[in-house]
Formats: sequence, C-alpha cells, structure tokens
Amino acid sequence: MSFPTHRPRRLRRSALMRNLVAESRLTAERLIWPLFVRSGRDVVKPVPSMPGVNQLSPDRLVAEASRAVEAGVGAILLFGIPDRKDARGSGALSDDGPVPVAVRALKERKLPLVVITDVCLCEYTDHGHCGMVTTAGEVDNDSSLEILAAQALAHARAGADWVAPSDMMDGRVGAIRKALDANGFKDVAILSYAAKFASAFYAPFRDAAESKPQFGDRRSYQMDSRNAREALREIRLDLEEGADLVMVKPALAYLDVVRAAREAFDAPLVAYNVSGEMSIVEAAAERGWVDRRGMILEILGSIHRAGADLICTYWAREVAEWLRGAPRG
Ligand code: PBG
Repeated sequence: MSFPTHRPRRLRRSALMRNLVAESRLTAERLIWPLFVRSGRDVVKPVPSMPGVNQLSPDRLVAEASRAVEAGVGAILLFGIPDRKDARGSGALSDDGPVPVAVRALKERKLPLVVITDVCLCEYTDHGHCGMVTTAGEVDNDSSLEILAAQALAHARAGADWVAPSDMMDGRVGAIRKALDANGFKDVAILSYAAKFASAFYAPFRDAAESKPQFGDRRSYQMDSRNAREALREIRLDLEEGADLVMVKPALAYLDVVRAAREAFDAPLVAYNVSGEMSIVEAAAERGWVDRRGMILEILGSIHRAGADLICTYWAREVAEWLRGAPRG
C-alpha cells in the first residue's frame, strides 16, 4: 500500500485555513451596481425579466444608493429611461434628463460613491440603435460621435465621476475625451466598454432599459462573439484614444477574453456580469433547482479570478451585504 506524498487536502481542513490560503477574494468596494433611472417621484417599477431590479425615480435611486454605500459598494452605473424618444436620441443631451437629475441628486448628498454614467443612445432613440441611423437603415459611425460626446458632457456637467460609453462606435473614446477636455472636465474619467460583444445575454436588459432595436440587430457595431484577438485590438485602440479603464462584456461567456486582457494591458479592467447571466440564475433559483447564493458567489468569484479588477453586477448590493456577514440572503 503506497500513501500519497503530497496532501493538498491538509490546507482544506477548516474554513479558517481555507480563508488563509485563498488566492482571490471578492470585495464589496470593487463592485459596480447598475441602476435604471426614469423621471418622476416615488417610482419603483419592477423589470419582469430581472427579478429584484427596478426602474427608479431619482429620489428612490438616491435612497437605494445610500443603502449600497452602507453595504460597502464602491460605485454605481446609471442608465436613463427618457420620457420621449426620437430618431436622434435628443433626450440624451438634456441637462434635465433622468441621468443628470439623478447625478445631481446623488452629488448633493455627497455619498462616498463613484458615480458612473452609461453613454449610449439606444435608450433615447425611437429605433433603439446605439447611434444615428441613415436613410438606408445603417448605423452611421461618425455622425454619432458628436452626439455621444454631447451626452457625455451633459453627464459631466451634472457631476458624473466617470462616463462609460457602451455604443461601440469607432473613435468615440477620443471624441469624448476631446469634448471633456475642451470643456474643463479633464478629471472626468472614461470607462470604455472596449470589448463589447453582440450577445444574446443582453435580452433582459433591453426590457429594463426599453432599448430593444426596432429593426435589425447590433452586429454591425458590437463585436462578433467568435473573436478574442479582436477584443484585445479594441481595448488597445480605446487605451490609445484615452480610456482610463476598459471593460469586457459580457463576463461569464468571455472569461478567456478577461484573462487575455488582464495579461496584455495594465489599465484597470472591468467585467460586466450582464442581465442574461443574472436572469438564468434567478430563473433556476425560483424553481428551486440551484443554490442561488452559492452560484452568485461562484460566478462573481470566477470573474474576479479570471482577472477583472472591478465587476459590474446587478447583485452588487446584496453580495456586498453578504460579504459583510449579513444574514443569509
Ligand atoms: C447599451 C447597453 C446594453 C447593455 C449595457 N449597455 C445593451 C445592448 O447593447 O443592447 C447590456 C447590459 C446587460 O445586459 O446587463 N446601452
């Protein structure tokens, strides 16, 4: 009978030991909580395909954000749902749109929270695309840049700390950086959704943001899911244009890209655990098929382990509460 020489199990004998030798650790201050804001007061409108997620009016959003701060969440990411949409997405440029109103309200409260705003036109255009649509029905890159830069400026004027372009037009990081610098916002950082893939995992979000394309799809601007090398190229270009942080999105089906980006670049790396990744867990948990909490921690842990510094997740506040040792959720 020969016994093993090496016994890795020795260090797995107790939770105390496992904690001592754990190679990676999720922390609340590295979580970014996405929130949906619309106009009004006292509005809490549930999103059916995303259990636990609501569209909120600015007053309610501030209340939710305060709870997130208490739980230790480091940042929130705001998406706006305007009252009216048009072909040019002009609602995106208004200083009185839901996002600028919410940012001002948050900043007045001086919450210790980094406020990030999503810069994209799909929530604001009646056709639901992320840029300007030509008469031929194509999404036009260059005419979209000016509008995206103006949207980023409206967010910066309201007090956003970081702006996060998610439209995937070429050159938008450079255009936004130039506009911010020219208008005295040199300290507003750009978190670029640099490697954003055209993904079936976004479907529930489009319910939440009311941003489903009315014709066609987003494959002419978002990346082809078969391409990992191209993702690195997209990231490099955005860094060259002045991005301060870069994102890979979605996270779970693209952990190889997260790892490759971590190894290739030194900029802070963000991964977005998107709506579909959340909804599949919630749906299975509702049926009693899985251990919800276990799955959530394992999923977020895998994104962290793959190399993401920051993780966007709809579970941010809840997970932050768990990490603080709050009662089982
Ligand atoms: C576009 C945008 C999308 C998401 C974030 N920003 C959707 C899309 O490209 O259609 C998806 C986020 C998610 O699924 O959680 N503004």
